[in-house]
Amino acid sequence: MNQISLDLLDSSIEMVERSIHPGKPFKTQLLKWVGNKQKQAIDIIDFFPKNYGVYIEPFLGSGGVLGVLAPKKAIASDVFPPLFEIWETLHKDKEKLKNWYSDRYARIAVEGKIETYKSVLSSYNESPNGADFIFLLRTCYGGVVRFRKKDGYMSTPCGAHNPIPPESFSARVDAWFDRTQGAEFFLCDFEVTMDKAQPGDLIYCDPPYVDSQAILYGAQDFSLARLFKKIEECKMRGVFVALSIDGTKFSGDKLCSIDVPHGLFETEAFINVGRSMLKRFQMDGKSLESHVVTDRLLLTYNM
Ligand SMILES: C[S@@+](CC[C@H](N)C(=O)[O-])C[C@H]1O[C@@H](n2cnc3c(N)ncnc32)[C@H](O)[C@@H]1O
Repeated sequence: MNQISLDLLDSSIEMVERSIHPGKPFKTQLLKWVGNKQKQAIDIIDFFPKNYGVYIEPFLGSGGVLGVLAPKKAIASDVFPPLFEIWETLHKDKEKLKNWYSDRYARIAVEGKIETYKSVLSSYNESPNGADFIFLLRTCYGGVVRFRKKDGYMSTPCGAHNPIPPESFSARVDAWFDRTQGAEFFLCDFEVTMDKAQPGDLIYCDPPYVDSQAILYGAQDFSLARLFKKIEECKMRGVFVALSIDGTKFSGDKLCSIDVPHGLFETEAFINVGRSMLKRFQMDGKSLESHVVTDRLLLTYNM
């Protein structure tokens, strides 16, 4: 198996300017989440095929791309149960989701922000659940959810900011409810979701940053090698796959230990680096550069 050269400075790469989007992007976030892609979503979507069937997002997180795309028909999933509970409740009973937040928010006036946070956090850690989690996500420090490695306890302290008032949260719920009407939500490993893709469907993958995110999302079973294998299967049966991959995955010799099947990706795209560019792969087996580039997309199809 050859490995992909990701040398940005390679003089023979093909670069294509992408369009600038004049429209007003959908910026309202429902959840704060590490790795949220809502800001970059419009540029990522620019690299999707012109036509495709069902939109499939197997590493949903806070759904940054799903929310901006607002597809007619979509399958969206994540392996983290409290997060899935939030998405499922948005879909099935959005008033309940609003109440989850407003009930906890109301306690701030009585108990104070820090005490309320501590109490909701301890309830969550006793039994992880979406109702506590939505409040914690909006209130915790920097929106960065951290879990202790040894026992999976959420350990993020309370943030210095004031969480948004319930009216504002409700408006976000309504907006997200409308934009995700076409989606069905599932709690499962990415492989299960990707197996559902039919020829002509599009899968957008935004997996955890392998080395740093186990502690952020809890100890989910993820490996890039397993994902590459599944992407290969999907490509073979005519499914389009776009993969967001953080530049740090390619630093040092980290990715060198993973075989990217030869010919798996046809196109590499860089977004939000001032202007968007597109590069065709050179499968020449050169060693990988140690530079860091964020917002990188690998596509199993040509643009
Ligand atoms: C980088 S985040 C996705 C961020 C998302 N694009 C957004 O806008 O918020 C990666 C997500 O993958 C999920 N995840 C981790 N391991 C997984 C697995 N084996 N199968 C499915 N999802 C997984 C994590 O729970 C996390 O929500």
